Amino acid sequence: MGLRTIADHIMDIVQNSLNAGASKIILTIEQNKNWFCFQVEDNGKGMDQEQLFRIFDPFYTTRDPRIRRVGLGLPFLKQAAEATGGSVQIKSTKGVGTTVKACFDTSHVDCQEIGELSDSISTLLISSNDVELIVCRSKDGRVYTVSNIELKELLKDLSSPFAIKLVYQAIEELEKSIIEEVP
Ligand SMILES: Nc1ncnc2c1ncn2[C@@H]1O[C@H](COP(=O)(O)OP(=O)(O)OP(=O)(O)O)[C@@H](O)[C@H]1O
Ligand SMILES: [Mg+2]
Repeated sequence: MGLRTIADHIMDIVQNSLNAGASKIILTIEQNKNWFCFQVEDNGKGMDQEQLFRIFDPFYTTRDPRIRRVGLGLPFLKQAAEATGGSVQIKSTKGVGTTVKACFDTSHVDCQEIGELSDSISTLLISSNDVELIVCRSKDGRVYTVSNIELKELLKDLSSPFAIKLVYQAIEELEKSIIEEVP
């Protein structure tokens, strides 16, 4: 588990939304001096009460057991967030969608590294294909928003090496613009 970063958790939770057949995902990442929170909202198949009840059980999965996935994404996230005094909240309605929100106290000694956030955001934007992905990112009140639909309009084919490079560069610049300390 030591290899995990918060950026890895974000990838995992967005992957859950993709697995749930979402056609639209809104990823919100908010950060200030001591807190790092992310929220993934999808319009996938959702969960009923019984599923929701079991969602933090280690190894609970509704995915095909023949594939690599083991059902630890949410339990790991919960454990990591709570280890800092933070929390994970899940709201879900069968047939409507799911919202997962996690908060970490980054000043806590047990907080995992945030990790390569701009890489994760870029990878998600490039690889989300037919799914609409909107990313709303803020730090200390400075905000940027980007969507893969918007990027596709600008760059046409997001899978070309040229487009991939541009997206990585653009997100890196946007991250820098909100992270830099204001003098
Ligand atoms: N966004 C979602 N929409 C609908 N169901 C979900 C969603 N996220 C999680 N689930 C349900 O919760 C189960 C557990 O999720 P979790 O991420 O812990 O494990 P997993 O995705 O099955 O496997 P792993 O994350 O280890 O690859 C999933 O199998 C799925 O049934
Ligand atoms: Mg998962």
